[in-house]
This record gives sequence, structure tokens and C-alpha cells, in this order.
Amino acid sequence: MAGTKIDGKIIAQTVKDRVKKSTSELKKEGINPCLATVLVGNNAASATYVRNKHKACEEVGIITKDHKLDENTTQQQLSSIIDELNTDATVHGILVQLPLPKHLSEFATTSRISPLKDVDGLTPHNAGLLGMGKAALVACTPSGVMEMFDYHNIELEGKNIVLINRSNLVGKPLYHLLLEKNATVITCHSRTKDIEKFCQAADIIITAVGDRTKFILTPEMIKEKSIVIDVAISRFQDKLVGDCDYEKIIEKASFATPVPGGVGPMTVAMLLKNTITAASLGTQIGRQ
Ligand code: GUN
Repeated sequence: MAGTKIDGKIIAQTVKDRVKKSTSELKKEGINPCLATVLVGNNAASATYVRNKHKACEEVGIITKDHKLDENTTQQQLSSIIDELNTDATVHGILVQLPLPKHLSEFATTSRISPLKDVDGLTPHNAGLLGMGKAALVACTPSGVMEMFDYHNIELEGKNIVLINRSNLVGKPLYHLLLEKNATVITCHSRTKDIEKFCQAADIIITAVGDRTKFILTPEMIKEKSIVIDVAISRFQDKLVGDCDYEKIIEKASFATPVPGGVGPMTVAMLLKNTITAASLGTQIGRQ
């Protein structure tokens, strides 16, 4: 029997409904939650992601400020925009869309954001707190994946979980979140020898490679009734695809996420949730 689809659109809607309620409560207290986005350059996919984030904010009553910067923006110019947003009391969350053009440093850029407005959870402060199990603002894709487990009451304690990604945005935060739930977590990456062996032993596989020419997770690689979370999204043979073919993998897995319509909508929903958290954090330090 085929497994159960983990439907990101449905789960994201439950998060958005909660966010909408919190937004209207904050507005009653005179706080107008606001997310500022910064997009540098002409990456078409990034422009689409930012547009979708704005649309989602609108749906739940979060105000947005849109900064579109030229491809040739210098590090200094970008830093001074972040400084302005850091001190702008009407802005609660700041998101600099990644990747940045090659001449800009992602570390210098994300580190510049005030930890209280860091809705991506990428500042050293928030990433460090996450490693200690104390972060209020956590990277959106990882917390979206955790929300999916929660929605389906999937127990993580004692499970063998394999991550196929080691990025600051996905693999590293997920490692800490899963460890906090008492899972046994193994991180695989491009230099891992015999990934298949790790996958076959895993109760849960979370894969985020995003390049079909380098990696495909096939049903032969997974254990019967395991759980597969496909975080990847890329264009391949004119289609949007993940690291596995959902229709094939779901025949063997007990749960799996489709692409599109899986983790993607969760990332956006958790950004909205983080913006509300940041707006509430602002009130705790006396900033409206
Ligand atoms: N690019 C791809 N995913 C993300 C994300 O979650 N946040 C930011 N800022 N950029 C991204």
C-alpha cells in the first residue's frame, strides 16, 4: 500500500491561519507587523521567491517593504541599507534573499542584521542559540520541516535520521532541531562515501541536493516504510523537481513530500510566523 502524502499546502495554511490571528491581536496593541525584503541583482528564481513572500504577507495582514538593489551594489551599500532597516522602528523582520551576487559576502551580510529582526535565523547569534536549543528565530525551511512532522504526529525520538545537506540554511539548523527531539542524526554531503548505505539504514531521510545530474534518491535506496522529506527544488527537463520522484518513492515510503507543494509552502509560512515572533520580541524590549 502506498504511503501518506505530507501536503505542504494544507499544513502551511494551518500556520498562516494562526499567524493571521496573531497579526490582528498585535494590531489591536498598536503594532503593525512589517517585513522588509532585500533582493540584490537579477536572479529570476529569487525574484519569484520574494514576490511569493510578499503575497503571503499580504494574505495574513503583514506589511512589506521591498528593496530591490542593482546587481553591482557594493558590500558597503548593502550594509548601510541593513543598518537603516535595523534602526527603523516600523520594521520588525529583515530578509536578504540568498544567494547574493558572487562579489558580496553572505556571511558579512547576514551577520549585519539585528538578531531581533533576523527572520531567517542566519545571524551568528541566532544560529549559536539554536545549537544550544534556545533560539526564538529559526531558519524557515528547517522549522517548516519540523512543523510537518508535528502535524502528522511523527515521533522523532530514537529515530535514525539522515540529512543530505550541510548548508547553513537547511542541513545545520535541521541537525540541531532533530537532535533536540532526541533523534540520532547523520549528515551526508557531496564527499560522503556510500550515501546509499546510510539511506538504507535510515528511518527518515531529509534530502536537499537540488541537482538531478549529481544526485537522485531512488526507491531502491530507501528502507521499506521509511519517511522521505524532499527539500530540493530545481528545474530539470523543463519541470520543477525535487531529489526524488514522489510517485515512485511513495510506493515504498510510509510518508513523503511532493515537489512542488511540499516543503516550499512551509518555508514561506514559517517566515510569516518568524515575522510575528520578531514583532513580539520588539515589544519585549520596548520597541514598537
Ligand atoms: N534562498 C533560498 N532559501 C532562502 C531562505 O530561506 N532565506 C533566504 N534569505 N534566502 C533563501
